[in-house]
Amino acid sequence: MIYVKNLCKSFGSHQVLKNINEHIAPGEKVVIIGPSGSGKSTFLRCMNLLERPTSGQVIFDGVDITDPKTDINKIRQHMGMVFQHFNLFPHKTIMENITLAPTRLKLMKADEAKEEALRLLRLVNLEEKADAYPGQLSGGQKQRIAIVRSLALNPKMMLFDEPTSALDPEMVGEVLEVMKNLADEGMTMAVVTHEMGFAREVGTRVMFMDDGIILEQGTPEEIFGNPKEARTQEFLSKVL
Ligand SMILES: Nc1ncnc2c1ncn2[C@@H]1O[C@H](COP(=O)(O)OP(=O)(O)OP(=O)(O)O)[C@@H](O)[C@H]1O
Ligand SMILES: [Mg+2]
Repeated sequence: MIYVKNLCKSFGSHQVLKNINEHIAPGEKVVIIGPSGSGKSTFLRCMNLLERPTSGQVIFDGVDITDPKTDINKIRQHMGMVFQHFNLFPHKTIMENITLAPTRLKLMKADEAKEEALRLLRLVNLEEKADAYPGQLSGGQKQRIAIVRSLALNPKMMLFDEPTSALDPEMVGEVLEVMKNLADEGMTMAVVTHEMGFAREVGTRVMFMDDGIILEQGTPEEIFGNPKEARTQEFLSKVL
């Protein structure tokens, strides 16, 4: 699904990603963990070119998206991204928020887009919020809408950057549940999270990032049960 080759990213003289080589296969659920500032968000953002790599390549679904000739907006339609903050349009209804991109991009007619939005809203149990505005929703509801909005473009892969870390604790579960259902349906996912329960349960692979590299990776059993690197052990002893 996605190949990352010799990926380096610097901000000024600060090298944040140090020659990362990775491959994520279709259907994998990769969970990325690691200390603050280790480069997790930057790594994720380089995958869909929200950050342009300083050097190296990102090949998504057979297309070199780092090639300046590639139309990145077209590619991004196939890569949903959900952030810590939901970035919904406050003056548009939930329905409008969800149908805006598919109709503007002429991927669907208005009535088709609406029907699809209702189907997705049903999946996250928020059908009754179609005509509400984002300000009338809880944080957990807003985040479920943000996920639906990404899904409305029928992406091939979803990127999540700490989707639950801005939520009140009682709302974390409902968002993780939606993500878990998505995983069960076979979605390819890369998820930066501090939710170690989710990582264990849903992750097919866990990457531990430290200081711009993927220091260690493996199955959840390997990383949580038997971490090899001292830095991984130290990190896990603090978060588990
Ligand atoms: N736009 C930017 N300009 C300058 N430096 C940046 C920029 N974005 C990130 N950095 C720096 O890059 C490093 C890695 O940041 P990044 O956000 O990828 O870390 P992270 O692992 O996601 O951390 P956290 O767990 O706190 O979200 C940090 O030192 C950060 O200050
Ligand atoms: Mg981050």
